[in-house]
Amino acid sequence: MPKLGVNIDHVATVRQARKTVEPDPVWAAVLAELGGADQITVHLREDRRHIQDRDLEVLRRSIHVPLNLECAVVDEMLTIAEQTKPDQVCLVPERREEVTTEGGLDVVRHRQAVTVAVARLQAAGIAVSLFIDPNPQQIEVAVETGASIVELHTGAYAHAFRTADGDQRFQEIFSAAHVAQQLGLRVDAGHGLNYQNVGPIARIEPISELNIGHSIVSRAVLVGMERAVREMKALIH
Ligand code: PXP
Repeated sequence: MPKLGVNIDHVATVRQARKTVEPDPVWAAVLAELGGADQITVHLREDRRHIQDRDLEVLRRSIHVPLNLECAVVDEMLTIAEQTKPDQVCLVPERREEVTTEGGLDVVRHRQAVTVAVARLQAAGIAVSLFIDPNPQQIEVAVETGASIVELHTGAYAHAFRTADGDQRFQEIFSAAHVAQQLGLRVDAGHGLNYQNVGPIARIEPISELNIGHSIVSRAVLVGMERAVREMKALIH
């Protein structure tokens, strides 16, 4: 059974909508831990649209499960990682105009920069994961970069779920997970997973961890709404 990494970025998205102090992603991380999260994941984006540097520092000192930092392969982020020392860094592609991470990191194309980044982070005692599309060529080059973990991008699978392409997208992840395991990598997966589509992915034997964010934060907002309104109503009365 895979472990669950809970991505709390979108708690910070709500906070940044008002540039205030609530909701606090660190508080959300503690509650996620209470709920059974095996890992907390945050993406420190170059544009700081949700998670801020301070969140990362406070999280590092507050949580008791491993901290997984997603970041781009750029000097600024690698330096922050070396200083903050998350348990794991997941290297992701990043384009400023994107709504969310679109597609995996092209390690075939950026092999040299990725190899240097992996060595740098590992020298700081940080485990390195590469967020890649479920593609055998990407996996082979991922091994050559020295990374020990790949996170397979499940976005295309999630998008195609219950459509004509669904089976094909699932098969790509299924076979990529086995190829990666045979090459000695630990295999994680994530992006776009929700309460409907997670089951088949969770049953893929080599997958050891799932990173899930948007659907969990979305559900948390809705399951908490009734209580939040009752509490405000009580104060007004
Ligand atoms: N894994 C990686 C590498 C990601 O970049 C993201 C999004 O930040 C996720 C998992 C979580 O995706 P979602 O929010 O769609 O669950």
